[in-house]
Formats: sequence, C-alpha cells, structure tokens
Amino acid sequence: MVVNDSTSRSRGMEATAIAEASAQTARAVEPAIPAVPCEALDERLGFAVPFRPAPESLSKSLVDWKMDADDMPILRYLYRHFRPRRHLEFGTWEGAGVVACLEECDATVWTLNLPDGECWPDGKYAYPRKVEPGAVVPAGVTSRPADDDIVVQSDAGWFVGRLYREKGLGHRVCQVYCDSRDWDTSSYPDGFFDSVLVDGGHTEEIVASDTRKAMRLVRPGGLVLWHDFCPDPDVHARCASPRGVHRAISTSWPWLEHELQDAFWIKPSWLLVGIKRSGPDKRVGSARDLDASEGGS
Ligand SMILES: C[S@@+](CC[C@H](N)C(=O)[O-])C[C@H]1O[C@@H](n2cnc3c(N)ncnc32)[C@H](O)[C@@H]1O
Repeated sequence: MVVNDSTSRSRGMEATAIAEASAQTARAVEPAIPAVPCEALDERLGFAVPFRPAPESLSKSLVDWKMDADDMPILRYLYRHFRPRRHLEFGTWEGAGVVACLEECDATVWTLNLPDGECWPDGKYAYPRKVEPGAVVPAGVTSRPADDDIVVQSDAGWFVGRLYREKGLGHRVCQVYCDSRDWDTSSYPDGFFDSVLVDGGHTEEIVASDTRKAMRLVRPGGLVLWHDFCPDPDVHARCASPRGVHRAISTSWPWLEHELQDAFWIKPSWLLVGIKRSGPDKRVGSARDLDASEGGS
C-alpha cells in the first residue's frame, strides 16, 4: 500500500541514495522474475476466463497505483478463479482484502494483524485517519489530537477487520492478533493453506519472516501473493514499502526460487505471484529448514 509514502519521505531519508539503492535492488531481481501482462493471467494460470483491466488503471502511472482501485480487481479475479478453500492473509488492516476473498469464493480466511497497530519509530501512527469534528470515536479506539483534528489509528483494535464484520462475514474468518514474527504456526500442518497474501509489515525482516511461514504453510500447487512488489524504479524512489518487499524477495531468492514452480510480476500492478512447487524439494535450506533453524514455528 502507498499509505506510508509521505511519512517515509518526511523521516528525512535521502532521496537520491534511496532511488539508487532501490534501482539496484530492482535490477537485481528483475532478470529472475518475468512480467506477465494482466490480460494474460488466464493463460499463465490455466483459468478459463481472461482478466479485463479497467481502462483507468491501464492509463495511470504505477507511482499513482492504488490498492483498492487497481490491485483489488486483480486479487478478486485470482480468488474467483483459483477458489481457495483455506486462505491466509498477513496484514488485515480493516479487512478489505479479506472481504475480497470471502466474496469471490467459499474460502475460510485466517488473517493476522498487530493488535495495537503499526507505528513508525518516531511513534507516529502508520495508518492514521482524521475524524471529522463532532464525529463519535468508537470506544477503545486509539486516537490523538493533531492540530484541529482527532486522528485515529485505523489498523488497531476495533478497526481491525471491521469491514468483514460489517458485512456479516465474520463466521468465515479466523482473526489472529499478534506480530506475525511471533505467530506460532506449529499446530498448522505443512500445506494447510491453498493460498496466501503477504501484506503485513513491509520491512525486509518482516516480509522475509512472513515469506518463510507462507512457503511452509501453502500446499504444493498453491498460490502465494506478495503485495507492494513493483519493479518500477520510480515507485522505489517514491515509496518505502516496495523497497522492503523487494529486498526481502531478493535476499530470499536463492532458496525461494526452489520452492516455487513459477513466479512472476503482474504487469501493471503491485503484485508478485508465486506457485508452490508440486514436486518434492530435496534441497537443504527450504522454508521448513529455515523455519526450524530459527526456532520458528
Ligand atoms: C497494508 S495493510 C494490510 C492491507 C490489507 N491486506 C488489505 O488488503 O486491505 C498492513 C497491515 O499490516 C499490519 N502489520 C504491520 N506489521 C505487522 C506485523 N509485524 N504483524 C502483523 N501485522 C502487521 C498493519 O497494522 C496493517 O494493518
């Protein structure tokens, strides 16, 4: 998501150095990960119906790309045709991505979020939202005065998953409240999930940790999606989240490519797709070994 764009800039990160570092990251990853046009997803994934992108999405720059308007139709298409029975989503926020999956197929969705939301190192909310003067702030919502407005933390407490609750879909959701790095997955067997969306914290460390968990938990032939993956250097120069995702994918690639039978960037989008390898992976250093060696779950 683009929500932390201005915040990261305001933290005084030097734009030229960031652009150069991220361009290098993009160059390092691009050769290994092909781009597949969104109109060709049906051929690549064996779906009967092609994806028809909105003309407004095709005509905009990737820098202006938005999750809700531009990536969500692609995610809905993938859920509608892949039809997972058990889906996992790292990073619930208000539940828009969870609702997309629930509405497009019959899946039960497991999803994680920090119970108290995400803050930047300076203490500012990562997902602030202004509340109009006089509006009622729900009990238990974390809020702060900011200038003349009240700002609430839209990824904490009551807000987490409110969209699937408001639609009466909560009976198909298992909401987990924790830092995903601390999530104990030892009770989940290998290959428990049909599909996973990695869209929680966007630092290299968190994305790499979520990726390791995802790869053990998704079944052979299952679908793994990473949001905020975009190899466009202009996007990297402007937005913090794709830089962390790119670094995590780059550093994980030596073992990750052996876990995947296919991987590609959907062009244009902020989405990376991976298909878990169907055959047995005999290599040392697979997701299972990495998880175990870290004392992880
Ligand atoms: C980009 S938003 C998720 C958007 C959501 N997937 C959707 O499609 O609407 C990222 C979410 O991840 C949460 N988050 C950040 N770091 C996390 C962590 N380490 N563990 C769990 N959740 C985390 C944030 O609180 C935020 O709600």
